[in-house]
Amino acid sequence: MKRIFSGIQPTSSMTLGNYLGAVRNWVDLQGPEFETIYCVVDLHALTQPQDPDALRTNTLSLAATLIAAGIDPGKSILFAQSHVHQHAELAWLFSCIARIGQLNRMTQFKEKAGKRRDEAYVGLYTYPVLMAADILLYKATHVPVGEDQKQHLELSREIAGSFNHRYGVDFFPLPEPQILGTATRVMSLRDGTKKMSKSDESDFSRINMTDEADLIAQKFRKARTDPHPLPEAPEGLEGRPEAENLVNIYAALARSSVEQVLAEHGGSQFSSFKQALTDVAVTALSPIAAAVNRLMADPAQLDAVLAEGAEKAEALAAPILADTRRLMGLAQRARG
Ligand code: TYM
Repeated sequence: MKRIFSGIQPTSSMTLGNYLGAVRNWVDLQGPEFETIYCVVDLHALTQPQDPDALRTNTLSLAATLIAAGIDPGKSILFAQSHVHQHAELAWLFSCIARIGQLNRMTQFKEKAGKRRDEAYVGLYTYPVLMAADILLYKATHVPVGEDQKQHLELSREIAGSFNHRYGVDFFPLPEPQILGTATRVMSLRDGTKKMSKSDESDFSRINMTDEADLIAQKFRKARTDPHPLPEAPEGLEGRPEAENLVNIYAALARSSVEQVLAEHGGSQFSSFKQALTDVAVTALSPIAAAVNRLMADPAQLDAVLAEGAEKAEALAAPILADTRRLMGLAQRARG
């Protein structure tokens, strides 16, 4: 059976970028072809300082948003990373497989640490090792993510390959990235050359899954554009990152293609296109926001869903970690 693993950080609320680049694909991939495991990666969130109460709340509200978006705990394993301690243990073992040169190449670390590298936390640097552990702890074969995680996944494949090579085994699969749809890299609404991100200072740079209809309309109205009407064909989007971004978002939300969107809206001014975009966004997102509110009214139920998910995840993870330890030569603890 093919097995999917993917994760999302509980830092503030989910953005439209997370949804279109990853989470909606997670939902679509649930079904007979794959066993699906989805994780709220709270240990990853700790790589930047977090307010402890906010982190706890965000973990629950992100789980609620995932369920509201269509992750069905009856079909998928949904859990919080820190509830399954094996993730951290495998990350240590993998930190003795990964090399410093490999981590030095990670562009996300360079971007996040900026010029003050010496002050960055060690966890931010070794983060891709934990991510490899997340995936390989389940021997996952497929990993649906947005474009920005491609390099981290490449490292996961390298770690799996190095492990297999060092111990002369065919133990870990090389996980395949699944980067699907027309919105694999949703850009900021304020700057079409920057990724839409939870951590951008301006809330107007992003759509959050829980934004009300009026706010969504306002954000799209204020979104940066250029003075030209929309082109009739995709080639006309070249060199127009803001226009391209809005068209990609529209196509993804309407489950259409860029060609079709331009066939319909080519020649339009942004004012009318933004109105149409707001309509498709509100239609897609408002039922999700309403479901989040309903789910958050019963936090004990969410806790129970995560607890059950952790139990199932641990049942898969424990034997794989035990085999890994054995292959690496760690002595077994005698019992009794
Ligand atoms: P995170 O929490 O930053 O994002 C969660 C998912 O959303 C995708 N994404 C985007 N896609 C398109 N456009 C955007 N603007 C955008 N912003 C975010 C991300 O690519 C991701 O798929 N390291 C991961 C979490 C992680 C993980 C894993 C993922 C930890 N362990 C194991 C897969 C497998 C992260 O920080 O995602």
